Amino acid sequence: MTANAARRLIQHYVDNFRRLPWRASPGNLPADPYRVWLSEVMLQQTTVATVAPRFERFVARWPTVEALAAASDEEILSGWAGLGYYARARNLIACAREVARRGGFPTTTADLRKLPGIGAYTSAAIAAIAFGERVAAVDTNVERVIARLHGLERADKAAISALALEMMPLEHPGDFVQAMMDLGATICRPRAPRCHSCPLESDCTALATGNPEAFPKRPPRAVRPHRHGLAFWIVRNGKVWLVRRPPKGLLGGMAALPGSEWSDAQPTGLQTIATVHHVFTHFSLDLHVTARGEPESHGWWQPLDRIEEAGLPTLYRKAIGAALANHDQLAV
Ligand code: ADE
Repeated sequence: MTANAARRLIQHYVDNFRRLPWRASPGNLPADPYRVWLSEVMLQQTTVATVAPRFERFVARWPTVEALAAASDEEILSGWAGLGYYARARNLIACAREVARRGGFPTTTADLRKLPGIGAYTSAAIAAIAFGERVAAVDTNVERVIARLHGLERADKAAISALALEMMPLEHPGDFVQAMMDLGATICRPRAPRCHSCPLESDCTALATGNPEAFPKRPPRAVRPHRHGLAFWIVRNGKVWLVRRPPKGLLGGMAALPGSEWSDAQPTGLQTIATVHHVFTHFSLDLHVTARGEPESHGWWQPLDRIEEAGLPTLYRKAIGAALANHDQLAV
């Protein structure tokens, strides 16, 4: 079944592939490794819909890995703002500089894996898509497609990887890898899979059981802890006082409102201008914005009408937006 199934999957991809700015059309020469690498890093924790326009802006500003490597940390961190975890942006900077120093991207999974921020999945995706290596890139989408196809309730990454590789044609492995990704994202969805549009419908063991959604079994969801933090609103002459967060840790090196450490305790007896809720991967946060008179830390006055130039991460953009919405009560 596998050769036939793979042929149908590829044909379906040729007819339906998502036109994404980092992709080569199926059957063509592989895409530029810089664009493939950048897209894979951006997609590590962010959706295709969010990444696509951000990717276009990023490559318009830094069209090559050499151009990116030559930019300052602060410029790149601002360009990254809103794309999630900043440890990823810092790895991106380190990786770009390492690649520029070596004179280009390494071309195999094993060598790509040695670069900052590139794990098993990303190295395989880049090697297959940009360099035509016959290697399976297994993320949760591909894991689900393969688990359903073979009716596996549970399977480790190595087993999924071996089954995906067995199915992979010799030609154009990058197209196969991306066909799997598209199938997982658009048809073989976690809930309500569109089995009757699926090119693998007749091969699918999970579908034959009558309940394809049940595969693979989902682990129970971990409870996400909840934290609180204070953000200090210090404004003068239409400017707000911003600081740079310490280089290590969550949102490391990013612009921010000054504030307290985040903790489990809900603050009491506080006059707040606004509270914003934000969900990180490992915890959720209520950030309480409260007025303060004077700056007490290193920082700078950022004009509020040029706030978007500060490279603020989403959390602080939300907090400033919410504070400004209560503008009437504030002496700005
Ligand atoms: N998710 C991760 N990598 C992707 C890619 N190259 N195309 C579409 N979705 C993806």
